[in-house]
Amino acid sequence: METQKELNLSAEASRILNKNWRESFTVPSSSLYPFQWLWDSGFNAMGWANIDLERARTEIKTLLSAQWKNGLIPHITFHNDSADKMYFPGAEFHGAYHSPNSPDHVKTTGMTQPPVLGFVLEYLYEKEKDKSENLEFYKSAITSIISFHRYLYTDRDPYNEGLVYIRHNWESGSDNSAVWDDVWKMYQPPVYNVERKDTTHVDQSQRPTKRDYDYYLNLIDISKQCNYDEAEMFEKLPFLIQDPMFNGILAASNQSLIKLCELFGMNDEKTQCEFWHAKTTAGLNDKLYDASQSLYRYYDLKNECYISMPTAMGFTPIMAGSPTKEQAAEMAKKIMGEDFTGPRLDGFLCPSLAVTSPSFEHNRYWRGPVWLQVNWILERGFRQYGFNEVADRLKQDSLSLVQKDGFYEYFNPKNYSDEKGGYGGNDFSWTAAVILDFINE
Ligand code: GLC
Repeated sequence: METQKELNLSAEASRILNKNWRESFTVPSSSLYPFQWLWDSGFNAMGWANIDLERARTEIKTLLSAQWKNGLIPHITFHNDSADKMYFPGAEFHGAYHSPNSPDHVKTTGMTQPPVLGFVLEYLYEKEKDKSENLEFYKSAITSIISFHRYLYTDRDPYNEGLVYIRHNWESGSDNSAVWDDVWKMYQPPVYNVERKDTTHVDQSQRPTKRDYDYYLNLIDISKQCNYDEAEMFEKLPFLIQDPMFNGILAASNQSLIKLCELFGMNDEKTQCEFWHAKTTAGLNDKLYDASQSLYRYYDLKNECYISMPTAMGFTPIMAGSPTKEQAAEMAKKIMGEDFTGPRLDGFLCPSLAVTSPSFEHNRYWRGPVWLQVNWILERGFRQYGFNEVADRLKQDSLSLVQKDGFYEYFNPKNYSDEKGGYGGNDFSWTAAVILDFINE
């Protein structure tokens, strides 16, 4: 029996998804992000699956309709020109039309985002009451997602390690993570005198700095000069990172695709996904697991060095079943220890950067705040290994934060008082989506 509080949260979450629905997709937030973002769209589809499966399927169809000819699924699809004025950098700055692979009918960026769609599709399918309906949708989506993964393994894994690289920090989903600080130290981009729009909606102290933006824009400029040719970008871009969350999510999606291919009798595809899954699991554990930190770390392919930073993202391969039982037990200890739950051990899980890190900032985007879609991934992962205490805590903290502060984009992990600790955009879609799942789980 749902409690009154849960019913209220659930009604509020539905209101937000409805408010942010735009004919065939959901915007992450009506003011800050007025288009369709890849991994947001995946979480939003899972949210919709709890209240309106038709919309959930439409969300995914719309996203896949912007897929590139080489398989890339873009990080942003710019569905309408008028919103361009509200957002920077828009379609023109990204200049994806420089690539022969970009679609002709819709404008997109030339980069991607965490490949959540495999597990999103499995989630949707599980919610279908009549499994014999909508088969064409599922088969066609499986095929598109496999072609996305094929692109990643073909064009983004130059040493055949089962670990694909990201070539822009925005591809990680964790835009201004402190992890990138080491990369930025290696070179100096020009200064861009551009008019940012994000800081007109959200206080500057909660967003990336102006100098950070120079790095982000410069990577786009270089990619454009390469006409988004993958081989040329690999030569020229100063940012090539094997990211544990991107690869962990890829592995989790492979796992779901294996199950779906089995159900749909897609045998060759299933074998392909099994091969990828084994390879990425081995890559994650052999190359990226850091036993001294009980976490997965990052590898910088350009500068040929590891980047070890205690981030929430470093736990995410747990969702793909990547760690051994022993590793998972160490990770459970780590996340419940003083680095992540705070010196008083009663902070909110899971800060995007350990509260004990010198770079921790309680309100700046990916440099400390809690993000609920990351909590969702971790909750599933720890639950799967039987660490229910950790999983319950992740779920409870997510619900408490929203109850206390509202449906914000990110939250202060150290705010024990009644003072507002929600930051960034409000009425945020994936926060609503995650809450709908947690309540209906
Ligand atoms: C920010 C986040 C990114 C998200 C996007 C839209 O750029 O860092 O992860 O996809 O906003 O919500």
